[in-house]
Amino acid sequence: MELRHFLQFKDLSRAELDYLFDRTRVIKDRFKRYEAYHPLTDRTLAMIFEKSSTRTRLSFEAGMHQLGGSAIYLNTRDTQLGRGEPVEDAAEVISRMVDIVMIRTFEQRIIERFAAHSRVPVINGLTNEYHPCQILADIYTFIEQRGPIQGKTVAWIGDSNNMCNTWLQAAEILDFNVHVSTPPGYEVEPEGAGLFGTDHFESFADPLAACRGADLVTTDVWTSMGFEAENAERQKAFADWCVDAEMMAVAAKDAVFMHCLPAHRGEEVEAEVIDGPQSVVWEEAANRLHVQKALMEFLLLGRIEA
Ligand code: CP
Ligand code: NVA
Repeated sequence: MELRHFLQFKDLSRAELDYLFDRTRVIKDRFKRYEAYHPLTDRTLAMIFEKSSTRTRLSFEAGMHQLGGSAIYLNTRDTQLGRGEPVEDAAEVISRMVDIVMIRTFEQRIIERFAAHSRVPVINGLTNEYHPCQILADIYTFIEQRGPIQGKTVAWIGDSNNMCNTWLQAAEILDFNVHVSTPPGYEVEPEGAGLFGTDHFESFADPLAACRGADLVTTDVWTSMGFEAENAERQKAFADWCVDAEMMAVAAKDAVFMHCLPAHRGEEVEAEVIDGPQSVVWEEAANRLHVQKALMEFLLLGRIEA
């Protein structure tokens, strides 16, 4: 089988994404019915974390167990990775000992260097530039809650960060639109986001205007991991980019609210929105488990019929 990685959202085609979303539903339904499904018996996932995580670690580790395999957690504090072993050497060794690797790190370049020397599939568990597994879960959640995302409008309020970049890549592949509103100085950089063009997104100076008519309103922390030194200036710059009830009121009547979590109530989102009736954040978090099982199955075994 051809070696495939999932380093950014556009590594999968439209047809493959459609397959993955269908497959996620099958895997999730079976799991909910307590039907054991162990296609990855004897397979091992290595999870390498250079940044903190709750959801990503849990969902990959539990997901691998549920598929019959096992998962090993590594961090850079107590492995040789934190002591200057070249990424390329680590990839050569680790990929001879396990069957699939998930990495959460800083620059995208690091995961690309690892993948270039890996004999097994590599999955991006978040980099400074992208968070593709989260967007898989978000889109699957939208489909589950509201049906196909093609032609819909997503309002992105806040930082043009790894989540925003990944939404923009997804919009190009799955043909939906993103209304982006960032504070001045934090605008989207299409090239850095790895976009083919600018047809699938529109920028708005006013976050309220970006939310008008949106089918999904979403945001993320003002300061992402690795950017903590900018926190004070970001607190000032982002003060008006807080998703509130007024923004939800101008969105479509049946709009949903999403947040990848962890959230800061009173900063990027008001409590009444994230804890309100339009919020699907818990379903969104739970679906990480199921989309990533479908992803690992696909990368290791290819398409499964039925
Ligand atoms: N959303 C997300 O990736 O959460 P963690 O940082 O807890 O993994
Ligand atoms: N943009 C956030 C997402 C956390 C899951 C970060 O990179 O810290």
